[in-house]
Amino acid sequence: MDKLVVECAGRLSGSVEISGAKNAALPILIGCLLAESPVKLSNVPHLMDVTTTIQLLASMGVEVMFDEHLNIEIDASNITKKEAPYELVNTMRASILVLGPLLGRFGEAKVSLPGGCAIGSRPVDIHIKGMEQMGATILVEQGYILASSNGRLKGADISMSPVTVTGTENLLMAAVLAEGTTTLRNAAREPEVTDLAEFLNKMGANITGLGTDTLVIEGVERLSGVEYSVIPDRIEAGTYLAAAAVSQSQLTVTKVNPKHLEAVLQKFEEAGAEIFCSEHEVTLDMRGRTLKPVNIRTDPYPLFPTDMQAQFLVMNALAEGCSTIEETIFENRFMHVSELIRMGADISIEGNTAHITGVKKLFGAPVMATDLRASASLILAGLVAEGETVINRVYHLDRGYELIEEKFHKLGAHIYRITD
Ligand code: EPU
Repeated sequence: MDKLVVECAGRLSGSVEISGAKNAALPILIGCLLAESPVKLSNVPHLMDVTTTIQLLASMGVEVMFDEHLNIEIDASNITKKEAPYELVNTMRASILVLGPLLGRFGEAKVSLPGGCAIGSRPVDIHIKGMEQMGATILVEQGYILASSNGRLKGADISMSPVTVTGTENLLMAAVLAEGTTTLRNAAREPEVTDLAEFLNKMGANITGLGTDTLVIEGVERLSGVEYSVIPDRIEAGTYLAAAAVSQSQLTVTKVNPKHLEAVLQKFEEAGAEIFCSEHEVTLDMRGRTLKPVNIRTDPYPLFPTDMQAQFLVMNALAEGCSTIEETIFENRFMHVSELIRMGADISIEGNTAHITGVKKLFGAPVMATDLRASASLILAGLVAEGETVINRVYHLDRGYELIEEKFHKLGAHIYRITD
């Protein structure tokens, strides 16, 4: 299994171009299942999870083609199989998103029930209940969700609690071809959900309330192919900005939407960074400044994202003073803490809260990546730790950060991969 070696290289500098958002690209790729003619997608990041999604679509008979600019053309006019097998759902939970479009367009779907994962139990009861409210019959047999409907799904008034990103996306995709009006209440407002809704509308869907917690969907008879460009990855952008913060550097992320980063940028400023935004760029300057501890509570968008929690935990571990980070979205998303403690951090966990006392220095050590964002936080720690940090299980990073070593090299970091 590949390892990443990270060495302390002092300050980073320069700019880094941000890729398309993983968590928008995955539902949009799967949303192509709803179109009766080919869709052309651009700004899709080249990531393991995207490859897995393409494999999943191909296994259903979808034709996938790449042009010379690596834009993807997806033709779902001839679906032969309406199934997401265990092997693929097991490696990528987002595969559950095929349930809505398959059921909506064909009235049947067979999808492996995802198990728990490293960051929590992550049930899909809200996805299932919502589809039942739309008239689907759902059975769970031998680890598979077997869903069917007698004719088109029927519009329904659905309230979701807690707020769920993929739950909202799945029900949105089920509802666009349903008969009548569906109202999704307490819907997730994440930019990735809005991007999916904009994509579906461009294909002919009729969704209103985009960006709010109430989405109203008037079912239409069919959707057809369009050209669409995926939004920038706000979490990738936030991760590079956090790298600048921990290493007391100045760097610019380009091709981003600063509006998607508001809650995160506010916390960077609270941590002592100077932030400059233009329409598509954000610069963070931490040169000559001292990291201040910031208290954080993760919450659904537009509040502070759980996907930036691990990165801020590293910043707090190096800040002058004490702080707390409360994780309210996933019950087990502190596994990076034990690794950071091995690198010299002073952190204790009490329930869903991490108590952090800043230390002057971290020290390189062999560490284990446990999930995508935890892995990113270990790189940040490695960038400023004395000595060498060896990160095992790098495949987590490959699922969500495009060209991570190349991008960090360009900024002056010393990171290289060892392939076994
Ligand atoms: N939940 C339920 N029942 C459900 C669905 C969710 O109880 O039917 C609970 C979950 O257990 C969790 C909470 O609701 O406690 C929120 O989970 P959500 O469904 O919003 O998470 P998700 O859709 O599975 C997406 C992202 C995650 C990101 C979360 C929160 C994708 C593919 N994944 O997950 O991204 O952390 O939303 O914003 O969009 C990552 O990129 O590293 C990542 C984990």
